[in-house]
Amino acid sequence: GGCGACTVMVSRYQPATKTIAHYSANACLLPLCQLHGAAITTVEGIGSSKTRLHPVQERIAKAHGSQCGFCTPGMVMSMYALLRNKPQPTMEDITQALAGNLCRCTGYRPIVDGCRTFCQEANCCQANGGANCCLNGDENTNESGHFLPLDPTQELIFPPELILMAEASNPQTLTFHGERMTWVSPTSLEELVQLKAKHPKAPLVMGNTNIGPDIKFKGVLHPLIISPIRVKELFEVSQGPDGVWVGAGCSLSELHSLLEKMVPQHPEEKTELLRALIQQLGYLGSQQIRNVASLGGNVASAYPNSDLNPVLAAGNCRVRVVSGEVPLNQEFFVGFGKTVLRPDDVVVSVFIPFSTKGEYVRALRQAPRKEVSFATVTAGMRVRFSEGSRTVQEVSLYFGGMGPTTVSAAKTCQAVTGRPWNEETLNEAYDVLLGELALPLSAPGGKVEFRRSLTLSLLFKFYLDVLQKLRETVDRVSFLNARPPQPHPHVPKDQDDQDPVGRPMMHRSAVSQATGEAVYCDDLPQTDGELFLVLVTSSRAHAKITGLDVSEALKLPGVVDVITANDIPGKKTRVMFGYEQELFAEDEVFTQTSLENLDFRKNMNYKNFCLSVVCVGQTVCAVVADTKAHAKRGAYAVKITYEDLPDPIFTIEDAIEKSSYFEPRRVVAKGDVTEAFKSVDRVYEGQIRMGGQEHFYMETQSMLVVPVGEEREFKVYVSTQWPTLAQEAVAETLDIQSNRVTCHVKRLGGAFGGKVIVTSVLASITAVAAWKTNRAVRCVLERGEDMLITGGRHPVLGKYKVRQKTQLKDQYSKIVKKNFNCDNNWFGSCLLCGQVASRELHIPTSKVFISETSTSSVPNTCPSAASFGTDANGMAVKEACEILYRRLEPIRQKDPGGSWETWVREAHLQKISLSATGFFRGKDLYYDWDKMEGQPYAYFTFGACCSEVELDCLTGDYRTLRTDVVMDIGRSINPSVDIGQIEGAFTQGLGLYTLEELNYSPTGVLYSRGPSQYKIPAVCDVPLRFNVYLLPDSHNPHAIYSSKGIGEPTLFLGSSVFFAIKDAVTAARSDSGLSGPFTLDTPATPERAFLACASPFVKKVPASKPGSSKPWALNI
Ligand SMILES: Cc1cc2nc3c(=O)[nH]c(=O)nc-3n(C[C@H](O)[C@H](O)[C@H](O)COP(=O)(O)OP(=O)(O)OC[C@H]3O[C@@H](n4cnc5c(N)ncnc54)[C@H](O)[C@@H]3O)c2cc1C
Ligand code: FES
Repeated sequence: GGCGACTVMVSRYQPATKTIAHYSANACLLPLCQLHGAAITTVEGIGSSKTRLHPVQERIAKAHGSQCGFCTPGMVMSMYALLRNKPQPTMEDITQALAGNLCRCTGYRPIVDGCRTFCQEANCCQANGGANCCLNGDENTNESGHFLPLDPTQELIFPPELILMAEASNPQTLTFHGERMTWVSPTSLEELVQLKAKHPKAPLVMGNTNIGPDIKFKGVLHPLIISPIRVKELFEVSQGPDGVWVGAGCSLSELHSLLEKMVPQHPEEKTELLRALIQQLGYLGSQQIRNVASLGGNVASAYPNSDLNPVLAAGNCRVRVVSGEVPLNQEFFVGFGKTVLRPDDVVVSVFIPFSTKGEYVRALRQAPRKEVSFATVTAGMRVRFSEGSRTVQEVSLYFGGMGPTTVSAAKTCQAVTGRPWNEETLNEAYDVLLGELALPLSAPGGKVEFRRSLTLSLLFKFYLDVLQKLRETVDRVSFLNARPPQPHPHVPKDQDDQDPVGRPMMHRSAVSQATGEAVYCDDLPQTDGELFLVLVTSSRAHAKITGLDVSEALKLPGVVDVITANDIPGKKTRVMFGYEQELFAEDEVFTQTSLENLDFRKNMNYKNFCLSVVCVGQTVCAVVADTKAHAKRGAYAVKITYEDLPDPIFTIEDAIEKSSYFEPRRVVAKGDVTEAFKSVDRVYEGQIRMGGQEHFYMETQSMLVVPVGEEREFKVYVSTQWPTLAQEAVAETLDIQSNRVTCHVKRLGGAFGGKVIVTSVLASITAVAAWKTNRAVRCVLERGEDMLITGGRHPVLGKYKVRQKTQLKDQYSKIVKKNFNCDNNWFGSCLLCGQVASRELHIPTSKVFISETSTSSVPNTCPSAASFGTDANGMAVKEACEILYRRLEPIRQKDPGGSWETWVREAHLQKISLSATGFFRGKDLYYDWDKMEGQPYAYFTFGACCSEVELDCLTGDYRTLRTDVVMDIGRSINPSVDIGQIEGAFTQGLGLYTLEELNYSPTGVLYSRGPSQYKIPAVCDVPLRFNVYLLPDSHNPHAIYSSKGIGEPTLFLGSSVFFAIKDAVTAARSDSGLSGPFTLDTPATPERAFLACASPFVKKVPASKPGSSKPWALNI
């Protein structure tokens, strides 16, 4: 529910008002049964390349807002839903609407640029569809032409039969029966209460944003689900003199709109709580989540870091249940996910009171990312003063993120009550607050020192705010600055008009991607008898498997088989960089012969295994079933018992201590380092850590293996950067010749280096299942599985020692462990190759079509990685096209007035071959580590970057105000693609250096396994001004048309934001009288920046006693 890629628009008819409500929602969290009576619009429904594009689809495509394209349908639908409600949105509306849609390629600027054209503010030229719109013309695309105008009268109509259905006077209880679940949707409160009394354990599903993830990801089963969505009492709103009763079923968006409507209708002093709630709601989840999540669901879920509950509690709100009213106070929240309500209670409504004169209410929060991120600490604070004085009459402080549920700082409130609102009172309050909101080191969520200090910081902010009686200003990203110029180098004057090289052309699949027509691996239609494969992975970091019981799994409906190492007919391991990786967990003791003697169906309860695992997430076996749901259930039912082995290695320090190195160890040294250090004025020594990074490609690892049915032939459809490796791996695993295996790659929904090697392992496992069952088998990892199973960019520990001599500085650094691997240029490579073919064949790009990469057409592909895709493929395409063009030369000479089509037809008649292969091997690069010499790179891509940030020292929040990038990328083949690559890689770098944090439990379990826990940059993280300049007049003799590889290099420029943060921290430290070097590891998260600022609040928090309890997370 956190990436927005599945966004659709839900429309419902409301009989009471006879209006239709349209809202965006994440399809992955929408239960189908809940949608009875609703109309769903998907990206395919609003326009297509065959009929007419919708303006949103067209403008995002033309603005170069679609790269890998996997997120594009979600972006389009978020924007579409916004336009259905507000055809002329503001920039604030647009950034809000897109806040919950993640993109890993573009860096968001082009997406926002496309959407900006609908905006009524003066960001775009306002031509809105006219010929002269700022996004039209040469600067951006030579294919754009005019934009289609947005005409709300042309939108899809709501199905009339659904209106008739909703108007029906006698609504019936709806009941749906599934394989294991029953879904009941009553129509009256009375019926709902009866149902709940009879089935107190059955959850009430409203938005499904709490219940849904548990069912989906944790395998929680609710045999009965009650859906109160048709109970109208839960949606009633009634205003009184003291406040407003809001139905518990109202969505958070409806609550937001209601409060926004109420605020101007009342004097300011009455709306303190209303405004605090509006502010908090603006940061709670994404638009898609707020559109479905209900007020009652949020209250009843009692999340530890719920944003609403601390504010509702501080604001003296009350909850109405059928039997009466219950105050929402410290007694209401009794534990993790628990309230005082009885299991059979139904929350009917929530009372939100008006504030009174002299009363101030504030909502405060700090989160790992500014938007769409659960808060680290969140708070609701209210204070009331005696009339005309600054003496505190009543105060209420509630915090989220400081315990298993919303907690009240009751003692602090007591200490402050009756006291003047001044620093003396506050200073005493800090000590009480620290005392009562203690957290052990092992507290879930970690960041203990940060969280404790934050409570003080937030209290201080509240104090200041109230003191100055300032209204909290909504602090949002704004793209209101004029769009930065994107200087596209001009093509030479004498270049043929038809020659597309050097011109900013639209991505050739942009339209298919924006219309949902683009086919990714998982979009391939199901084949007859197809099975789905789900992996069963180790939950231990280092253990012997003492039992593997698959009997329960095999009994489940739909489960066809369990695949283990024993089923592999060929090689059971893949060798990567000299290291063997097993496809399934194995052990030396069980060598091939002993494993081959195991037959799981005969030995279903086989004990005394001797398989071992070396990390959490290692594949142990795989379940194949007729559907994904059945395979998942089968995987849950596999029982593995373990016996832990000693000495698991979790950290780099552990590895060094235990001499566990990846060999060979590399040293780069120049001169006599020891000698050089003997005569220096000063030596600086220290170490710096760099956190790891998840690829977070939007499309997870996906593959479909189809046995052809004869001659041991297999077709493998796979999302990989290296089809040849997947082909070879599958062939070796199945012990067949690789000419029996064909790999097909249509497109990738992002890769970044994460689909070069590991995909071949997963494809091999899937192929074993296809081999064994003789049926097509599909495997598409879920995000959590993907993050757990696949690797990523590794953490780095760098130790440095630098000598300083007057007028001479030298540096010696030793990197203990380092691994970078990233690729962003798959999509670009295809487009650029099309441009190359167009130039070489002298035909327009519209005549060039790139179908797919297949090992049957190019048998020995190099990986599309390391920014080498265009260098290699562009040259190869050039060579092949030159061959073809030469072959056509005699025909052209004979018929100079002919067309491409007539020449080609003639060539066919003359039996001239019309296919050619080009090949480019690149420069032979090498490095001799012993001699420390060689040429490891053919050329360098240079860049420089400057960023400016603003840091809030009280919370560690930062915002990038401006970034300027200058890149030398030679002569750009397509400046729009290159700028897209630069912005995308920079943004991924910004994530690496400042945002993305992988957390592991003390037993080596990855906690951060999805967008809720792992924050990649979102729209809110884009620098407010982002200028990218391509260095003019640069040439590169080593690559196609003098261009340069650009996928990866800009990633490192993201570090400029890190260094800007470090400078800001240095300034903050110097204000506190601290000088000299200090360590700031990456990612420089708000936590790290805040702690490094060493504010008085940080110093107040007593350090935890070492060994007092196990920290929640490892310091990787
Ligand atoms: C991606 C994502 C991001 C999020 N971000 C935030 C955030 O930043 N801040 C934040 O505070 N929250 C956040 N949430 C949590 C979200 O706000 C809550 O899950 C939501 O409010 C719960 O409402 P629901 O209608 O979806 O509940 P459901 O999942 O439908 O139900 C949740 C529980 O509430 C009970 N319940 C529901 N209605 C009633 C009722 N009327 N009476 C009694 N019990 C009831 C159900 O029985 C069930 O146990 C996020 C959730 C997601 C998925
Ligand atoms: S939000 Fe549904 S797939 Fe990410």
